[in-house]
Amino acid sequence: MTSPPTARLRQALARRLVTDDYLHDMGWMEAVETIPREVFLGEAIFRPTETESGTLWEPLRRSDVGDEQWTSFAYTNQTWVTQVGGISASDASRPLAGSPTSSSTLPGIVIRMLEIAGISDGDTVLEIGTGTGYSAALMSHRLGNRAVTSIEYDPVVAQHACEAITEAGYAPTLVVGDGLAGYERNAEYDRLIATCSVRYIPASWMWQVRDGGTITTPFWGWMNANGLANLTLGDDGTATGHFDPFEVAFMPVRPHTAPPLSHYLIGRGERRESRIDPNVLDDSTGLFVAQLGAPSAQRMGSGDEVILLDVATGSQAATQADPAGGWTVRQRGPLRLWDEVEDAVMTWQGAGCPPQSAFGLMVTRDRQYVWLGDTEGPNWNLPA
Ligand SMILES: C[S@@+](CC[C@H](N)C(=O)[O-])C[C@H]1O[C@@H](n2cnc3c(N)ncnc32)[C@H](O)[C@@H]1O
Repeated sequence: MTSPPTARLRQALARRLVTDDYLHDMGWMEAVETIPREVFLGEAIFRPTETESGTLWEPLRRSDVGDEQWTSFAYTNQTWVTQVGGISASDASRPLAGSPTSSSTLPGIVIRMLEIAGISDGDTVLEIGTGTGYSAALMSHRLGNRAVTSIEYDPVVAQHACEAITEAGYAPTLVVGDGLAGYERNAEYDRLIATCSVRYIPASWMWQVRDGGTITTPFWGWMNANGLANLTLGDDGTATGHFDPFEVAFMPVRPHTAPPLSHYLIGRGERRESRIDPNVLDDSTGLFVAQLGAPSAQRMGSGDEVILLDVATGSQAATQADPAGGWTVRQRGPLRLWDEVEDAVMTWQGAGCPPQSAFGLMVTRDRQYVWLGDTEGPNWNLPA
């Protein structure tokens, strides 16, 4: 099926993941050495090009570069985007603007997340976001086909993944549908792992994972701040756990994407002095905290000039440097977005600006909230 040079590349990738501190559990070493990633990249990928108007995604076909170069792409520890704005690389005839909607995540992150999820021999797993199918194949190799269920939202992506997984010699349960609903037929699962991000934990995940099982999912919000939540289910219908220090940024589950931005009215609203330096939102934990404070807001701008917009209510806030020193903010609409951001950021600053791993997530039947320090500490409701 795969040629000897590819086998050497797989072994080299596995060694590199160990050296670079991604792979520690030798159970995954053999899987990386065995699964031919080039099969999962298919016949075309997108390469990013930075332009003055933003990132353009240039389609690149295997036939453009030849087999040798193609396999070398597959065995670099790099993410390869395979779909942008719902258009697959094999269907694109010119560079595209827009956001990636499917990819083969870099193997280092795939493996690290499998380890953080604590997945090991004997576990049953539900994966949300099959994508190219590479991670589903790794898990099928280690755990067996019957132990792995993977859900993909996009039928075209799911079809490619199914063909690649079959070609590689595996047969997990592959489902085309919305991972937010889980897959009841194979429940209960020991582990749930998502390779796309959520704004909150869907209710179905809570009852399809067994008590004592785990949910490991990238977390994301409309200000584009990210985290990696690692939760354990209690026997009382709740789940809690910390955000992991490992930094990841995954594309959002499609039903959680933000609404299109509406227009913004420059220079309107009540003006006052800002209680915080808006530049704090350029720090990844600062932005994470700001997003907790105003989860319905989308952010534009950076540095001194931050604009927040809540599309549903038309509320907006805009900061700027004050020539006299400090910063001012103008706010309008029913939600005082900057007030909420200030309160959250000042709470975090008051605690000494701890890293994201000091935060955790609590999911109960009635409420989901992010806590700081412990479950009784300062907390912020998620838009669940
Ligand atoms: C980063 S890719 C997955 C990478 C994949 N695990 C791999 O290693 O090749 C994320 C995938 O999640 C899928 N997705 C987005 N929303 C989803 C949803 N609600 N349910 C299931 N899959 C979803 C996207 O279509 C995309 O293919």
